[in-house]
Amino acid sequence: MATILRDWSYQYQWLYDGFSRLAALSVGGERRFRQLALEGVAIAPETSVLDLCCGSGQATKFLVERSCHVTGLDASPLSLRRAQKNVPQANYVEAFAEAMPFPDNQFDVVHTSVALHEMESQQLQQILKEVHRVLRPDGVFTLVDFHKPTNPLFVPGLSLFLLLFETETAWTLIKSDLATLLEAAGFQRVRQTLHAGGSLQVIQVKKRS
Ligand SMILES: C[S@@+](CC[C@H](N)C(=O)[O-])C[C@H]1O[C@@H](n2cnc3c(N)ncnc32)[C@H](O)[C@@H]1O
Repeated sequence: MATILRDWSYQYQWLYDGFSRLAALSVGGERRFRQLALEGVAIAPETSVLDLCCGSGQATKFLVERSCHVTGLDASPLSLRRAQKNVPQANYVEAFAEAMPFPDNQFDVVHTSVALHEMESQQLQQILKEVHRVLRPDGVFTLVDFHKPTNPLFVPGLSLFLLLFETETAWTLIKSDLATLLEAAGFQRVRQTLHAGGSLQVIQVKKRS
């Protein structure tokens, strides 16, 4: 599945950002979209925040407005070079999310935006374990990703988006219960909210103290 648009959108940041902005109109625009996962999360200048799978810094840009200690992690050197240029206020690490080069209990907040749908099922479980490990007790993991629409009017839009840009893993994610997977990884559920007719989910969970 997916089309050449997927490759092009990774190759040309303006294309990725253009389609992201277009899709974000479904929740009121990009700024609103980027705030969804941050609503209710206490982030002060001294809070240490990890932007997991940060891409070219699309969400990192909003995290550095609130914290002076933001780290972006991504497996793609090209994305990280762009992120460094776009959002130089953050530190960046090239690594796989399933094997993060951080000690235990390092971060107050781990955030990830539209990335978990790219992971195979085993890989996703390993990533959730890793997030749990690097978060300090009482730390918050907050994410935004696709979800199966609850409003049928949003089914064609999300289906078209997934067909054009995504692979099988995105379809698997929308069929799965991510909140339950997070609980299985040891997290305590805090909040799950749906947006854009249910085609987007925000989940916030906490590492038990
Ligand atoms: C769809 S982009 C999301 C980028 C950004 N977070 C956003 O909100 O637009 C997914 C990112 O995940 C990264 N990625 C995919 N698999 C990864 C893995 N196993 N470890 C780390 N990064 C990964 C890709 O390189 C890409 O930058």
